[in-house]
Amino acid sequence: MRRKIVAGNWKMNGSKDLVKRLVGSISEQSGSGGVEVVIVPPAIYLSEVAEFAGGEVATGLQNVSQWQAGAYTGEISAGMARDMGCAYILVGHSERRQLFGETDGVAAEKVKQVLASGLTAMLCVGETLEEREAGEAVSVVAAQVRKGLASVSGDQWRRVVVAYEPVWAIGTGKTATAADAQAMHLEIRNVLAGMKAPANEVSVLYGGSVKADNAPALFAEPDIDGGLIGGASLKAEEFISICRAFPADA
Ligand code: PGA
Repeated sequence: MRRKIVAGNWKMNGSKDLVKRLVGSISEQSGSGGVEVVIVPPAIYLSEVAEFAGGEVATGLQNVSQWQAGAYTGEISAGMARDMGCAYILVGHSERRQLFGETDGVAAEKVKQVLASGLTAMLCVGETLEEREAGEAVSVVAAQVRKGLASVSGDQWRRVVVAYEPVWAIGTGKTATAADAQAMHLEIRNVLAGMKAPANEVSVLYGGSVKADNAPALFAEPDIDGGLIGGASLKAEEFISICRAFPADA
C-alpha cells in the first residue's frame, strides 16, 4: 500500500506566532485516515514546529545541502535534519530550480545525501507553461525524474516520494485538472517502473494551487497519493480540510 501524504510547504513564510497558532490545531485535527501529515517550515522554525506538533505530524526541510559536512557557510546537511527529528526533505522544488539555479545534477546529489542519512527525499518535478504548450511536458518531467533519482536503488526506493508540481500551477490559482494530473502521475509511475523502482509503492503527490475545494477531486484519482501544499498550508482550516480530502474507501 502506498503512503498517503499531505505536506505543507510554508516557503519563506511564518513566524513564532504563526507556529503557535497553526501547528497545534493541525496536529490535533488533521490526523486519522492513515494520512501522513508533514509540516515543512523554514528551517529556523523546525524545533519550534516539532514542539507544538507533539509527535502528531512529521516535519521536513525545504532544501538541503548537496554536501555532507564542512566549510559550506549557510548550508544545512541531511544529517543535521535527521538529528533534529526531520523525516522528509524537499529536493528540486521549482523555486530552487528557477531562482537558485538548481540543476537535475544538483538535485541528484541532494537525493543521495537525504537517502544516505536515512530520511525520505521528496523530489519535486514539473514543466513550465512554455514546455506544456510545446507538447514537452511528459518528456521534461520524465527527464527530471530519471536524472534526479538516477542513483536510487533497492530498498532506498521506500524512502522516495515524487511531487508533480506543474510550474504554471504553483501559486497562480491555476490547477491542473484532476484528469491531466492523473495522466502525468501515471507517466511518472511508468518512468519509475522503467528505472526498476517498485513503482506501485512510490507515493506520487500533486502540488500547485491545491485548496480545500479542489483536493477531493485530485485525491480521488488512482495515481495521486496526496499533495504538496504551499499557500493553503498557512491557513489551519484550509490545510486540515485538505488532509481530510481523501475518498473514504481509499
Ligand atoms: P501553492 O504551492 O500550493 O501555493 O501553489 C505549491 C508548492 O510550491 O509546493
